[in-house]
Amino acid sequence: METRNLVLIGTGDLNDMRMLAALLEGNEYDVAMASNSGTLREQLRQRQPSLIMVDAYLPGVDVADILHAMKSDPDMAEIPVIGIVPAMDVGLRQTLWRSGADDLVGRPFEPDEILLRLRTALEARHQAQESANLETLLFSVVSAFEAREETKKGHPERVARMARRMGERMQLSPADQEALYKGGILHDIGMIKVPKHVVDKPGALTSEEFELMKLHTVWGERMCRPVQSLQRVLPIIRHHHEQIDGKGYPDGLAGEQIPRLAQILAVTEVFDALSSDRPYRPRMSRPEALRYLNEYASRNWLDTGIVAQFLKMVDEEGWPEIPPLKHESLNLDNSDTPGGIRDKKTPA
Ligand SMILES: [Fe+2]
Ligand SMILES: [Fe+2]
Repeated sequence: METRNLVLIGTGDLNDMRMLAALLEGNEYDVAMASNSGTLREQLRQRQPSLIMVDAYLPGVDVADILHAMKSDPDMAEIPVIGIVPAMDVGLRQTLWRSGADDLVGRPFEPDEILLRLRTALEARHQAQESANLETLLFSVVSAFEAREETKKGHPERVARMARRMGERMQLSPADQEALYKGGILHDIGMIKVPKHVVDKPGALTSEEFELMKLHTVWGERMCRPVQSLQRVLPIIRHHHEQIDGKGYPDGLAGEQIPRLAQILAVTEVFDALSSDRPYRPRMSRPEALRYLNEYASRNWLDTGIVAQFLKMVDEEGWPEIPPLKHESLNLDNSDTPGGIRDKKTPA
C-alpha cells in the first residue's frame, strides 16, 4: 500500500487553515497544522512531514528565519517548503525565494494550482531522493573496486578533492565544484568492467587490451547516465582521457571541444596517477610528477593554463594531501623518473 504524504500547514489564518486542510485531506494527503512558529517547530521535529506549506505572516517569527534554519539542517534540508504569500507582494516573494522556498502559492487560493504545486514539489523531492540513493550505490561500487585494487586505493577521493579545490580557486559555480568532486570519485568507475588481468597487468598492454582499457570512459558514463543528479558529471567521466591535441580517447576531441571540467579533472588525475604506484611502475616523486605535468602541457596533451593553475595551487597551498599507501612513505626528494606512463597515454 502506498504511504500517504503528510503536509504540515503553518498559518495563523483559521479560514486558510480550514480551507487548505479540507482540500488536502480530500486529495489523499494527511495534514498536520500549526498556527504559530512554536507549534510549527515542534511539529517539524515530531512529525517529519513530507512537505510544509507555511504562511509568510505566521505569528511569532520571521518565516525567512525558519526557512534558513531548515535549509541548513541536513535532517530537514530536503523537505520541500511552499510559501503562502499575497499574490501581489513582490518583495515578500523575493525574500522567500532567496531564503530557500521551493515554491510559492498566492492568495486568493486556486485549489487546482495548489494541488499541482504540491505534486510537483513532492515529485521533485522523490526524484532527488532516488538520485541520492543511486549516487550512494555508485560510490559504493567505486569503494568495492578500490578494495580490489590496492594501488588505486584513495585515488578517486584524492582526485576529487584536488579537482574541487581547483574549481574553487578558479571561482567556478558551486554546481561545477560539486561536479568536479563527484567526477573525481566516479571518473574510473567503468574500470569495474575491464577484466582484472588487464587492470593488474604488470607489463605493457597489447593494443587489444588497451582498447578494452579505453572503454572504461564510455562504460563509466553509461553506468552514471540514468542518475538525474549526475548529468553535469557525465562529460567529466567520458572525456577525462581526451588530449588537447585530439589524440586522446574515447572521442578524440581537441582543444576547446573538450569540456572544461574534464580538462581540469584530467590535470589532477594525471598528477595523482603519476605520484601513485601502478602495477607496471612505481610512483614518481611529486616534484617529478609536476615536471611531467608541464611536459604534457608543452606536448599539447594537457591544457597549459590549467596546468599553470595547478602549479600555482601547489606553490601557494603546499602539496595536496596525499596519504602514503600502507607501510610506505612518500619520498618527495626522489627525482628518479620511473618509466612508463601507460595509464594516461600509451599502451606501453
Ligand atoms: Fe583515474
Ligand atoms: Fe581513467
